[in-house]
Amino acid sequence: MLKAVTSIDTILAALRAAADPTRLRLLALLSGGELTVSEMTQILGQSQPRVSRHLKLMGEAGLLERLREGSWVFYRLAEPVREGGSAASLARDLVGRISQTDPTIARDAERLAMVRAARAAQAEAYFRANAERWDQLRALHLPDRDVERVLRDLVGPGEIGLHVDLGTGTGRMLLLFADQVTRGLGLDVSHEMLTVARTALEARGAGHLTVRQGDIAAPPIEAGAADLVTLHLVLHYLDDAGSALAEAARLLRPGGRLLIVDFAPHELEFLREDHAHRRLGFDEREITALGTAAGLRLVRTVHLPPSAEGATGGGTDDRLTLTVWLFEAAAPLPPAPTTPTWDETPSR
Ligand SMILES: C[S@@+](CC[C@H](N)C(=O)[O-])C[C@H]1O[C@@H](n2cnc3c(N)ncnc32)[C@H](O)[C@@H]1O
Repeated sequence: MLKAVTSIDTILAALRAAADPTRLRLLALLSGGELTVSEMTQILGQSQPRVSRHLKLMGEAGLLERLREGSWVFYRLAEPVREGGSAASLARDLVGRISQTDPTIARDAERLAMVRAARAAQAEAYFRANAERWDQLRALHLPDRDVERVLRDLVGPGEIGLHVDLGTGTGRMLLLFADQVTRGLGLDVSHEMLTVARTALEARGAGHLTVRQGDIAAPPIEAGAADLVTLHLVLHYLDDAGSALAEAARLLRPGGRLLIVDFAPHELEFLREDHAHRRLGFDEREITALGTAAGLRLVRTVHLPPSAEGATGGGTDDRLTLTVWLFEAAAPLPPAPTTPTWDETPSR
């Protein structure tokens, strides 16, 4: 909602920037998460310079945020919490008023779903093709043992009830915490990755660890059930990291923890083409803001730069720094005082 603290000029600029049918369509599209210019061009069926011009205008008016990453440029609705957030609030307010049944908006939504499905199919094809050698591929990017020691230290030695590993792949995170969890559940969209995970869990005789197919966008798991949720090298494949964090937060019981591991911002564009990455890493503040928006409290962040002998100690890529975020879900409120109120006191 618009707050009264905004100058008339700012409001007018935001209103002018939004007052166009294509721009309203773009706002509606971006309400579902960030998109690249070329994806929006595909959906709207308009030329890239034209779409870019609309986006630029809305960016300048504070309705949108722009993020350049290598050769890709992402746009998303601006966050109302930031400075100049009134235009951002206006953008969200307008989007909330647009009817989803409007034929143009409904057609755009259908095309967006197709663009997303094509992208998901690409990532799935990558994991289908690479499931058997994923553990070696991961080791090309990071020194497993160093990272895992840090993760164990951050989580600490205490008992964990339910551990949910989102985007579990070959089940590496499940196995890492296997000795301290009562139950571990890994979720992944890829059948092939899950087949490798099942074999690994069986080989370890870990009957308390299971995996099942499911999408992080809607995990088939009861809210508030998990003591620990992990997202290990998953966010950079997703369309919408914010929704993934919101779902992870929803799964946590009060006091439960979310552990995220992902790359710090980098410029290795080939990871997009060759390894299906969507995002080239994340700024520490971006994930912290998404966690906070999901109602979580940041406990710690840790940066793991490539080691002196190369990230892998024998692997190929020594240019990737990892960041680890540990969040906590709000603890339960203390029980309400039981002191009787005056009208509960027996009258004499
Ligand atoms: C890079 S792998 C990481 C696997 C594992 N966490 C690890 O670190 O070894 C990313 C995994 O996320 C899975 N994934 C991608 N998008 C997903 C989604 N929307 N829902 C569930 N899993 C997803 C992929 O299938 C893949 O197995």
